[in-house]
This record gives sequence, structure tokens and C-alpha cells, in this order.
Amino acid sequence: MSYSERPGAIDQAIAAWLQSREGSSLRDKSEKLTQAYRHGKNSSQIDLCAYLTTRMPATYAAITRVLTEVVLIAEGFAPRTVLDVGAGPGTASWAALAKWPEIEHVSMIEADARFSSLAKELAQASGISALQSSHIATAKLGESGTKAELVIAAYIFAELEEREAGEAALKLWAQSEQVFVIIEPGTPRGFARIRNARAALLAAGAHMLGPCTQSGACPMFGKDWCHFTQRLARSREHMHAKAATVPFEDEPFSWIAVSRTKYTLPAGRIIASPVTTKINVELKVCNAQGLVIQQIASRDKQAYKRAKKLEWGDDVST
Ligand SMILES: C[S@@+](CC[C@H](N)C(=O)[O-])C[C@H]1O[C@@H](n2cnc3c(N)ncnc32)[C@H](O)[C@@H]1O
Repeated sequence: MSYSERPGAIDQAIAAWLQSREGSSLRDKSEKLTQAYRHGKNSSQIDLCAYLTTRMPATYAAITRVLTEVVLIAEGFAPRTVLDVGAGPGTASWAALAKWPEIEHVSMIEADARFSSLAKELAQASGISALQSSHIATAKLGESGTKAELVIAAYIFAELEEREAGEAALKLWAQSEQVFVIIEPGTPRGFARIRNARAALLAAGAHMLGPCTQSGACPMFGKDWCHFTQRLARSREHMHAKAATVPFEDEPFSWIAVSRTKYTLPAGRIIASPVTTKINVELKVCNAQGLVIQQIASRDKQAYKRAKKLEWGDDVST
């Protein structure tokens, strides 16, 4: 299954929920949702049908991609408990369970009662016992002391002030028994929050898991921001709601994962789309030296052939 494909159960649960609430134009609602996020509004102003149809597929795909990256580095990590903070409809919980079906207990914290009751309805319809028995609280970040081996905060820091990101990250780190992951839109605004969280977490002794390849100061500055993209398929309803002409979209995302265990980090990570010509492959890489450009000449046939297969986000040594 690719990062963007979702297990059938989640699509069935969502389709049933949407069917029971067909209403005015999903396209209008979707447009309002896009505008709301573009103007930095928070989720309390958005429509749940539009979120499920046009936003959740992208957040699910980005979360799944990040969890896959986490497993590549934290070899053998297999959480039994997960805490999904700012859970919305439970996106990160569904993604974590698809990655680790052995998860025994799920907790969700969600400030907006409309979202927490939606998360409950979807969990009940899931047919997955860890979701059906999940603990879903209508509460704000920091109000619950629940701990879990894996804590995920997906697309919630965008709803905090930039200066609050470090403190919020430390609160959630205290609730994490092993791994803590933050995922945000891949925008300068999203990355600013990730950068603040990164500094606070590393100062508190957390070990880097990714995407960084070192634990020193982040070398991104000026107009540059660290982000990646994840392609996902659009459903018919998703295309219709967005008046889209292509059956896919690319979700830009920024992320950070830290751990209580120290793992070996990749030597370098590709942080932009590789540029391939007949002469060379040019890679923008973040490594222990900072941001560097690596050129792999076509005359080095083996290395050039291998470099042509590398993608944005890959470990440069793969
Ligand atoms: C953009 S949605 C993301 C939902 C889900 N995590 C996903 O990735 O699809 C952000 C969610 O965070 C919730 N939220 C915002 N601030 C929060 C806070 N301080 N504590 C708990 N939840 C919060 C919002 O109500 C909303 O449901």
C-alpha cells in the first residue's frame, strides 16, 4: 500500500458518515475551508464534511509518510499505546493503527466537541477494537496527563501562536514514553513552529529521529524552510469538491520526530526536488556540514544511475 492509500475501513466509515449528512454544496464548503486555512483561521470555523472529503486525505497521507520515515530510523519501534493530540476526526490514530496493527490502546485529545464526537462515531464504525475502545476526550493540549509510547500532534501547532510552539512541544514530550512526532503544513508558518519545537525538545535532552541528520542548530534560514511533499490520489468526491482537474494532489508538509532512545541518523537527507540533466544529478542535502549541494556526474555511471532514482526526502545514502 502506498503512503496515500487508506485502509478500506476508514473510507467506509467516512462514506457512511457523509451519506447521513449530505447537505448544501460540498464545493462551497470546501472553498470556505481552503480560504479559512489560507488565512490562518482555526478549525472551529470549518465544515466537518469538507474536512473529511478534502483535507483529511492529505493529512492522512502526510502522517503515514512521516510514520514510515520514523520506522526507517527507529528500527524495531512498535508502539502499543498512542496519544493523538488535536486529533480532529482521529486521522493520526487511524494512520498509526494502519502502520502498527498491534497497537493496544488509543487516546485522542481534541479541543472541539464537534470533532471529538465525529472521531467517536468514526472509531465506533471502524471495526477495529483498539479504535472502538479508544479514549476520546474533549480537552485542550496539556489538560490531560495521559502518556503513550507514541505521541502524535498532527496539524495542530498551526493553531497555536509561533511563540507557544516550544512550550507546547515540551508538554507533549513529557507525555511521550518513547517517540513524539509533530507534523505541520509545509509552509514557512508551519516550519517556524517546527523549528521552535525542535530547539526546545533538543534543549530538553530529546534525541533526534528525523528529518534532521544532526542535533546541532538548524541550518535553514532566510526564506528557506524545511519541507517535503507527499502525493495522494483524489477521490471522485474530493475532485468534485475542489473542482479539480487532476486526480491527485501534492501535500507539502514539515515534520520533526524525537525519541527517548538514540538511533543512528542518516548521513544526509535530500531537502528539495533533485535536478537531473545529462551531465549530472544535483542534490540539495542537509547533513552534518549544514546545507550542501552534491553533484553526481554522469561519467560516474554507477553513482549517476543510483542518484537518478533518489527523491526529495530520501536518505542520500539509500
Ligand atoms: C487541522 S485539524 C487536524 C486534525 C488531525 N490531527 C489531522 O491531522 O487531520 C487541527 C485540530 O486541532 C484541534 N486543536 C486546535 N488547538 C487545540 C488545542 N490547544 N488542544 C487540542 N486540540 C486543538 C482543532 O480543534 C482541530 O480539530
